[in-house]
Amino acid sequence: MEMKGKLGVFLSKIKNESGEYEILQLLEKSLDTTNPEKGEVPIKLLGFGEISLVFEILSDKTKNLAFKRLPIFDSEEQVNKHINGYNEYNRLLNDDLQIEVPPSDAAWVYADKKMKKISLYCIQDKISQPESIGNKIIHQVGIDDVKNLILIIMRETKKVWKFNKSNVDNGKQIGLDGQISNWVVKNFDPKDPHVTIDSKLVYIDTSTPMFRINGEDAMEGILFLKSAPFFLRWILKLFFLDEVLDRYYDWREVIIDLIANFHKEQLPEMIPDLLNVVNEFFVSEAKEFNIEPITLKEIDKYYKNDKMIWVLFQNFRRFDRFLKKIFRKKYDFYLPDKIKR
Ligand SMILES: Nc1ncnc2c1ncn2[C@@H]1O[C@H](COP(=O)(O)OP(=O)(O)O)[C@@H](O)[C@H]1O
Ligand SMILES: [Mg+2]
Repeated sequence: MEMKGKLGVFLSKIKNESGEYEILQLLEKSLDTTNPEKGEVPIKLLGFGEISLVFEILSDKTKNLAFKRLPIFDSEEQVNKHINGYNEYNRLLNDDLQIEVPPSDAAWVYADKKMKKISLYCIQDKISQPESIGNKIIHQVGIDDVKNLILIIMRETKKVWKFNKSNVDNGKQIGLDGQISNWVVKNFDPKDPHVTIDSKLVYIDTSTPMFRINGEDAMEGILFLKSAPFFLRWILKLFFLDEVLDRYYDWREVIIDLIANFHKEQLPEMIPDLLNVVNEFFVSEAKEFNIEPITLKEIDKYYKNDKMIWVLFQNFRRFDRFLKKIFRKKYDFYLPDKIKR
């Protein structure tokens, strides 16, 4: 796992002669979030999560890099804190827990002339084989390979909760978003697509630093909600923020989320078999954690609930964008086409 010592290497690829991130500044200035590939800086979308936009910048220097744009910061202090958390999170996962993550870096620029808003770009090695990302794999292989994938994901996530268990006393806890789209299978061959229990995984979703020291989050939780329309933020903060954040620190919840996602991926028929893998794992390889088996009913209930929250959220964001268009304000976030659920 060669990651240490790489910090900073990527940044030289996006600096101009005066040491500025000129290409990111230009990108910020010209980015059209409804049509991100049509701006002045040629980019190609690699993916998006519920909140972030992930793309490559089509230039010689940057061609093997993935950029995750987080346009959510109000001050240098805030963004620097986030970058420290991000670097530490990557280090914790990769070096301390031996969960491999791609080499990474971070750079920020002011997103507007008044220097009020800041966009952070988390930079990673680009995954060279898009087919090797979990949410693509599960549509290319049969149930036995998907079961293997879930088993090896269980083994990776166990590293986190083993750490958490042994650090309860000193108050250091690590969170993880176990969703299938956050895992990449190394050496996956789309021409002979298979996942075995010896396959190696890479975890890519590191831009949200999730660790706590004595109950204090490395990231400001409220940043999570920055993509929410202003009129919704306080509601979300009141009712959902703690619940949403805590979920990533609870192994059972993380796995429920992982399995329930097969509904969204239109593969509900796989769920019973995958639940068997998970529950079998809990009573064998993780028996010291005393985790209660997850039931099908819980998965279905969770999915309906989660779906409701996110559909609402996305629809509110569309409405918010509509309002901003009317009032000619810049809309900061990319809105995916209606996600099929
Ligand atoms: N390094 C990368 N190379 C190629 N594609 C990536 C990379 N990182 C992320 N992606 C794509 O973008 C998607 C979202 O990225 P992720 O880091 O999981 O952000 P989010 O927090 O929004 O889920 C991934 O599922 C993947 O399809
Ligand atoms: Mg993700």
